[in-house]
Amino acid sequence: MRKTVLFLLILFISLPIVKADEGMWIPALLKKYNIEDMQKAGFKLSAEDIYSVNQACLKDAVVGLGREGSPFHHFCTGEIISDKGLMITNHHCGYGAIQAHSSLEHNYLRDGFWAMSMEEELANPGITASFLVRIEDVTEKVEAILRTKLAPKAQKARIKAIMDEAVKGTNLKANIKSFFAGNQYFMSVYKIYKDVRLVGAPPSAIGKFGGDTDNWAWPRHTGDFSMFRIYADSNNEPAAYSKNNQPLKPKKSLTISLKGVKENDFTMVFGYPGTTKEYLTSYAIDQVQNIENPEKIAIRTLKLETIKASMASSELLRIKYSAKAAGVANSWKRWKGEIKGLKRFNTIKLKQDLEAKFQKWAEVTPKRKLNYANILPQMKELYAQKAEYARAYAYAVEAGIRGPEIIGFINSVNSFLKSYNGKDEKKLEAFYGKIDAFFKNFDLNTDRKIFVKLMSHYIKNSSPKFLPEELKKLEGKDIDKISKKLYNKSFYTSKSRLKKIISKQKYKKLYKGKLNLIAQSITNKFRKEIAPEYYKIDSKVNSFQKAWLAGLMEMQKDKKFYPDANSSFRVSYGKIKGYESRDAVTYGHYTTLKGIMEKDRPEIYDYNVPEKLRELYRTKNYGKYTQNGEVPVCFVATNHTTGGNSGSPVLNANGELIGLNFDRAWDGVMSDMYYNPEICRNIALDIRYALFIIDKYAGAKRLIDEMKFAE
Ligand code: ARG
Ligand code: GLU
Repeated sequence: MRKTVLFLLILFISLPIVKADEGMWIPALLKKYNIEDMQKAGFKLSAEDIYSVNQACLKDAVVGLGREGSPFHHFCTGEIISDKGLMITNHHCGYGAIQAHSSLEHNYLRDGFWAMSMEEELANPGITASFLVRIEDVTEKVEAILRTKLAPKAQKARIKAIMDEAVKGTNLKANIKSFFAGNQYFMSVYKIYKDVRLVGAPPSAIGKFGGDTDNWAWPRHTGDFSMFRIYADSNNEPAAYSKNNQPLKPKKSLTISLKGVKENDFTMVFGYPGTTKEYLTSYAIDQVQNIENPEKIAIRTLKLETIKASMASSELLRIKYSAKAAGVANSWKRWKGEIKGLKRFNTIKLKQDLEAKFQKWAEVTPKRKLNYANILPQMKELYAQKAEYARAYAYAVEAGIRGPEIIGFINSVNSFLKSYNGKDEKKLEAFYGKIDAFFKNFDLNTDRKIFVKLMSHYIKNSSPKFLPEELKKLEGKDIDKISKKLYNKSFYTSKSRLKKIISKQKYKKLYKGKLNLIAQSITNKFRKEIAPEYYKIDSKVNSFQKAWLAGLMEMQKDKKFYPDANSSFRVSYGKIKGYESRDAVTYGHYTTLKGIMEKDRPEIYDYNVPEKLRELYRTKNYGKYTQNGEVPVCFVATNHTTGGNSGSPVLNANGELIGLNFDRAWDGVMSDMYYNPEICRNIALDIRYALFIIDKYAGAKRLIDEMKFAE
């Protein structure tokens, strides 16, 4: 007995203690905080190989995908895989673009799309791809500004001046963000390309295999990738779309490894995680778990039921609503998973324990008392105040402003007209373009049904204090019947009626419409009575959150803190690993084509394997894209990721591309608030499955020929 204990002890001491896993690290600080850890875990390169301002490095092959107008809010990540600017990302990241090019005649969403030459690659105005040039700590400069007595507006202008100064005389763009809840500030400098063309996408039956049913789930068999190419002007610099643009010659492109990975192998993910909240208090978790998520889930359940019924009824409606449905369903399901995970690991209690410890620590010296002792009591009080506003917020936004699409549309039309001088024809034409885009995917009857369900729910469940006046008038009435009149008569529900009344400048008549009054009533309730109070409380919470985090860092001096995700470039690292979901249920670390065939159900839309893929399976026409004789499809790892990391490169110890991040596994989706290395897993597409599809399924050999493979 003793002997085994001793043996175990020795074993334990001699094994390298690999912590890693949790954390999304700032690339410029890897050298200081992480590189030793990473190398211990198996990483073979140096910190400069990942991030350097002096030489081409791995970060130069990664792009943040954004939209013109909000290029710093990266909705996904992509990576460069050829010296001709070829970029790969997820299918669900390219979904909007694929959908925009789709029609009943060219149903790229359903059938896939493959440009067989560069001439066939399709432009996507509005999509941007940002390369990170450098990131620098500007905490002192920003804090000096924030310490001044200047008005917030003037402070903002000064901060903007720092950014302007940093990129003066260049075509670069700078962006300063707060880290650690305002305890630090970093500036990212980007080069932003604007001509990003669609190169290839598998059919949804591959790229979205398993649909919303398999979403957030492991084991997974989704071929979630699509390909784009970045174009530049004749100097290799960013330019708006032009026929004369050339494929980008990138500073760096990733080398692809076909060797695959074993369990426990080192792996890392680069990209643009959007938002995490790892340092919330128990009061905040309580509110998410018991108010915000449940309310939002209930509302979206109603919305989804309606959309799904429409999509099942016609192929055209499926095209129109597929991207919207995926978006609505995605967060809806994640919120459910969050509640489950937070409860399962008793996160509120874990936070309470930490808070008790903190409070004790904060009472010890007069200085700590002054700085920290009142944080938690204040937070508790603030969250108590916030509760009713959090609920009202969910109704106004989820059921109202972003509920039936027509409400958001009415708001955007009205806000355009308010700023429109009635003369600038170019402006008007551009706006007509937006109107056309809206109606391309709008189905009056579907939206009307959504309206009926959501307004009924709103009226029935909202606290009377926050129920918009126009909805009060509908109480007890037949909303279905009323909605038919509203939708059929409104100027906003018909493209031609709307354009006509705008061109005649009869705005007064437009605004008098009943549907408009309802939309305004909801929007004003939100803008005037809910949002101001909600944000006022929130900004107080934020200032305490800053102090709370500063205190935690002081109390836990030896702990390495990483900043919450904020859509800036981060590196996560960990290992390839399956997991134990619950008692007696253990998941392996990768899936294969065989598993796709096991899920094949021709009668179910999301599980109908394309005939050609079946045939490739039957004839074992796999090429070199195999592992143990099967085509690998997806794998899981312990990399800490979140929304925005979609499309992120997953790299091996040599910095070679082995996969594309695209999801997280169900049991661990609470990781945005509480990461647990036992159970939190990111899901990646094995790059070999993507290559197999490109090569064997699509026959787009020209793309394979552009890529660079590891020996
Ligand atoms: N859950 C993944 C993410 O958060 C994939 C979403 C797209 N897929 C889908 N079936 N809706 O973005
Ligand atoms: N699918 C997510 C995205 O679009 C990644 C999954 C996650 O939230 O981790 O970024």
